[in-house]
Amino acid sequence: MDTDIIIKVENVHVSFWQNNVGVYSIKDLITLRKSPFKSKTILNNINVEVKRGESLGIVGRNGCGKSTLLRTIAGVIKPDQGKVTVNGSFAPILAIGAGLEVELTGYENISMLLALYGTQRKNTNTIENIKEFSELSDEVLRMPVKQYSSGMVARLAFSISLANDSDILIIDEVLAVGDQGFQAKCMEKIYNIKEQGKTILFVSHFPDDVARICDKAIMLEQGNLIHSGNSNDICNNYRNLF
Ligand SMILES: Nc1ncnc2c1ncn2[C@@H]1O[C@H](COP(=O)(O)OP(=O)(O)OP(=O)(O)O)[C@@H](O)[C@H]1O
Ligand SMILES: [Mg+2]
Repeated sequence: MDTDIIIKVENVHVSFWQNNVGVYSIKDLITLRKSPFKSKTILNNINVEVKRGESLGIVGRNGCGKSTLLRTIAGVIKPDQGKVTVNGSFAPILAIGAGLEVELTGYENISMLLALYGTQRKNTNTIENIKEFSELSDEVLRMPVKQYSSGMVARLAFSISLANDSDILIIDEVLAVGDQGFQAKCMEKIYNIKEQGKTILFVSHFPDDVARICDKAIMLEQGNLIHSGNSNDICNNYRNLF
């Protein structure tokens, strides 16, 4: 693979088994004469290339397959067909609350995730930086995450992910629930990360943000890649959908 290319998605096809024929009990299962599961195509023949230092935006309606594509690129989902090649390290998928353990406190989650990332746990600077960026108080960070509001969860998740020094940052809708101040601060931070030459995969329903952060973008519709190109053009296509 060309060393300039950090992510290459070739002819990727993903399907999921879904149970949508109304089986709620063993009796339903026994009386049903066909399989209760149906295979549904979620991603259909997707081809994407991302160069090192490039930012790719992914837009499309709810349920079109954006998060599934991110998970497939990150290796969480194995495609039924096709191939994904990644030439760099990943920060974990930054989706709202993904990876946080709700029974643990904010502080415990920070320690756990830093250990998972292989970042020095004893590095108090890192913990202080996370705390400072999240603007969560000591009192809140001592509470179990299950008692957080969704905005607080987003603050914690985003701030922890920033501590991970990997080549590729994957952001899935994390800004949607933050308040305006936090959203603006995150956008600034993501922009700085882009300026440092990192590769970013950015899913958002805010086309202005996608156009600002991303050099190029793709638009999905029911699992098909229907537009690909300059992020401004793709965001205009997305705005015209509604
Ligand atoms: N684990 C799963 N099992 C079965 N179907 C799934 C699973 N995860 C997602 N799907 C289906 O895959 C499709 C795409 O879901 P996905 O989460 O990728 O959409 P999305 O584009 O990220 O949507 P949104 O904008 O709402 O976040 C949806 O129809 C969803 O029902
Ligand atoms: Mg999604």
